[in-house]
Amino acid sequence: MTEEFPGPKTKAVLERGITLFRNGLKFESEMEKAGRRGFRAVRQIVVDKAKGDFVWDMDGKRYIDFQNGWATNPLGNTHPEIIEAVHQAQNRYGFHYDHPLRYDLAEMLADIMPAKALPRFNYEVSGTEAAEAAVHLALTHTKRRYIITFDSSFHGCSIATKVLGGYSAEKSTYLESWAGGAIKAPYPYSDQIPAGMDESQYVEYCLWYLDNHITSCIAAKDNIAGILVEPGLAEGGNWIPTSGFLQGIRKICDANDWLMISDEVLTGLGRTGKMWGVDHYDVIPDILVVGKNLSGGIEPCAGIAARDDILGDNDAFSSGSTFAGTPAGCAAGIKTLEIYERDKVVEHAAHLSRVAGDIMSGWEQYDIVRQVRASGLLMGVSFKKPHDAPADEEDWWTARAVRGKMLEHGVWAISDQAVTIRMYPALNMDEKVLREGLEVMETAIRHVNEHGHTEGNMPPYPTGSAGF
Ligand SMILES: Cc1ncc(COP(=O)(O)O)c(C=O)c1O
Repeated sequence: MTEEFPGPKTKAVLERGITLFRNGLKFESEMEKAGRRGFRAVRQIVVDKAKGDFVWDMDGKRYIDFQNGWATNPLGNTHPEIIEAVHQAQNRYGFHYDHPLRYDLAEMLADIMPAKALPRFNYEVSGTEAAEAAVHLALTHTKRRYIITFDSSFHGCSIATKVLGGYSAEKSTYLESWAGGAIKAPYPYSDQIPAGMDESQYVEYCLWYLDNHITSCIAAKDNIAGILVEPGLAEGGNWIPTSGFLQGIRKICDANDWLMISDEVLTGLGRTGKMWGVDHYDVIPDILVVGKNLSGGIEPCAGIAARDDILGDNDAFSSGSTFAGTPAGCAAGIKTLEIYERDKVVEHAAHLSRVAGDIMSGWEQYDIVRQVRASGLLMGVSFKKPHDAPADEEDWWTARAVRGKMLEHGVWAISDQAVTIRMYPALNMDEKVLREGLEVMETAIRHVNEHGHTEGNMPPYPTGSAGF
């Protein structure tokens, strides 16, 4: 089985990517280099069909879907009611900027915003655009120049969101001159805790950095517009902040007259077992960024919600490109929210997260497991190399090896070049399927724990999507 995976049809499609996509030019030489050291190709699939909790590759092999369109399918793949609603909107409106569905969805969103305190909405196409829009709104509302963001955060793939996010110093090369308005602060995640500090001391330090270090050494507090924060680092490795950190940010924002912007593109709309990530911390942001799940897994839809006084009267702010708030995107969002209410989807997600928590609670006993971290169905497991591994082996190879074994046995999760495997099951996943997927994952962990691995450092096939 190992030799034939991925199957021939999947492999043939992946190979077409070598001449078409990023890094194809260096693929052969990298494969040869890795092959000389005895490593296997990183496993990848190409989705040929998607339905409910599953996807199928080009060879007809079925996988439990923990990848979830990169956390964009809250109700599973190709939900028929959402597809129907999208088709109806397309048939009726085609594409026009103004149509009644924009109003309907904005009303529904106002109703579910934290404490109903963010009643105004501005549509965007993607989470990237929405995060940028939130920052522009904050700058223009406060008439200030700086935004504080965090290392290891992720806000998108435009130049602005790259410099706002936690790109490493190396990856930020050539972007230096674009980063003038972003001030980076440490996010208190536990791998970074300096020696001698415990977690709560490090949280205190990070808050001190925001409130004191930045304002005394980097920018005057009256020139800072706000803090852009994810209430749970997702792309940055599934780090879940403490209440003290999020509540501390709220207090600092209030004390300094800064805006708190919560980027909920990934944590929002039920992913964490509550409607919004901030709901776990009892804080209300001034601006909230939403995307991903709002698409219902069918049609992009994103935007920002804000307080009346922030978005209700601001001539300097403008945003919303041609395809922001399409009829199809809004129809997808409306149907998704209707199903959330009808099927109590967020409650189901919270239940599933307890089931998953019970199953994963013993995993830290494995030598290669560093930590299990989850908030609702924002789930991740970070890995380290086995204790007897060669010195030059890197921890992320272990994550890759586990994830490869999972794929081989029919479970698809996310592991890019990182030490963490992330799992984003649909919020309405069948409990039996969730249990089966996690059982396969534990078997994969046990296998790599016992046998080590010989994969992980082969170059991935260049793919048409981020198909890790
Ligand atoms: C927190 C956060 N903000 C923004 C984005 C960017 O969203 P999009 O990829 O839809 O542009 C992402 C994407 O993963 C995200 O996780």
